[in-house]
Amino acid sequence: RPVTSLPRLREMAARGEKLTMVTCYDATFAQLLEEASVDTLLVGDSLGNVVQGESSTLPVTLAHMAYHTAAVARAKRNAWLITDMPFGSYEASPQLAMASAVTLMQAGAQMIKLEGGGVTAETVRFLTERGIPVCGHLGLTPQRVHALGGFRIQGREEAAAALLRADAAALADAGAAMLVLELVPSVLARQITEAHPQMMTIGIGAGAGTAGQVLVLHDLLGLTRGRRPRFVRDFTREPGSEGDAPGLSVAQALRRYVVDVKAGLFPDETLHGY
Ligand code: KIV
Ligand code: NA
Repeated sequence: RPVTSLPRLREMAARGEKLTMVTCYDATFAQLLEEASVDTLLVGDSLGNVVQGESSTLPVTLAHMAYHTAAVARAKRNAWLITDMPFGSYEASPQLAMASAVTLMQAGAQMIKLEGGGVTAETVRFLTERGIPVCGHLGLTPQRVHALGGFRIQGREEAAAALLRADAAALADAGAAMLVLELVPSVLARQITEAHPQMMTIGIGAGAGTAGQVLVLHDLLGLTRGRRPRFVRDFTREPGSEGDAPGLSVAQALRRYVVDVKAGLFPDETLHGY
């Protein structure tokens, strides 16, 4: 398949082809996700939870992110590689953000992602003007879990929805090429997607109206223990099958995710939306 570039992603989104994104933290899974033709790999700071055993993403450092980015970059071929800027590596100033972004790009990232709305717009502009592709992240922003009061849906009340729309507009205006929308009502995610066609929206718990979808790898493979958020689907299982029915292999499950996102079968608004 052709190498995935920003213009190619834009062209796919403009055609209405849904973009696929999965988190990835190591070389083995990078190879498997390549074989499944996943469009974009995200070295997410969710590695704090699923790899490091932390209960939030706050302890993850820039050095951790660079280490995992380098591992993924060595194995990836055609997918587009995005890395999260970890907590504390970008908030204080555009200059701090630039230095952190350089570290991650030198480790192999092609785009960096940072959380937050209007306050980060100045930083997003600073980076994009200097040739760093930027992905925003709004809605439930896990680095702010203590300020938000937990992992819960955002933008349900009209005032909060209006704030989210304004944040999205500020990020689009600052040059963000992509925007992750996490745990927001489907209607709001669709509005933001339609309002900013130049900023590709990627949803997680944001319904079917976004330009693309992302899931945490370990959730998609049914490996995560504990309470499973409703937006997650275990792709190793046939929908509706019993727990002891034979499951799909990892390679099959990853392909199934890609096929179902591209076909508009995942997410299902009623099963996975808010
Ligand atoms: O770190 C992560 O996995 C993420 C995705 C959930 C978007 O930011
Ligand atoms: Na993240």
